Amino acid sequence: MTNINTIKFSDESFALVQKIIKRYPEGKQKSAVIPILHIAQAEFDGWLSAPVMEYVASILNIQPVEVYEVASFYSMFNLKPVGKCVIDICRTSSCWLLGSEDIVKHLEKKLNIKVGETTKDGMFTLRTVECLGSCGTAPMLQCGPDYYENLNLNKVDGLLEKFKTENKRRSYTDNAEARTV
Ligand code: FES
Repeated sequence: MTNINTIKFSDESFALVQKIIKRYPEGKQKSAVIPILHIAQAEFDGWLSAPVMEYVASILNIQPVEVYEVASFYSMFNLKPVGKCVIDICRTSSCWLLGSEDIVKHLEKKLNIKVGETTKDGMFTLRTVECLGSCGTAPMLQCGPDYYENLNLNKVDGLLEKFKTENKRRSYTDNAEARTV
């Protein structure tokens, strides 16, 4: 079992964490919890284990349960291990009307998993989510920081190949802009 003492941000991430904390007035460091959780999730294999949340709490000088309350509220935070590529398919009105259900079924078949599951090789996790605000380019999915829009089954197949070829973990903070939010 992972021990909190073995968890440590890289120097680069720790410097960024300190920079984010300094944005808030003295005593209000708890407000930095969301951006810091994003950094932690990206750094520690794409999910937030109890020791990782405890580590974040220790940095912010708050109780672990205060971190857990935030992490468990937002779907962008993973509380169990996920694949390198978490595929979030929007299932709300516009996307549903334009075929998101067919895309989900197609992906379930191709990846041999059901929604909510991860492939045996640890490459893909498949999820459905509510509107991601890209209704004008429905149907769409999100993977890491990127939106993939106006999808059809061929495009989805191309994406899977691209993700497999690149074989890297995709995090919401992959682009520099996200790391400074
Ligand atoms: S309905 Fe899918 S992005 Fe809004």
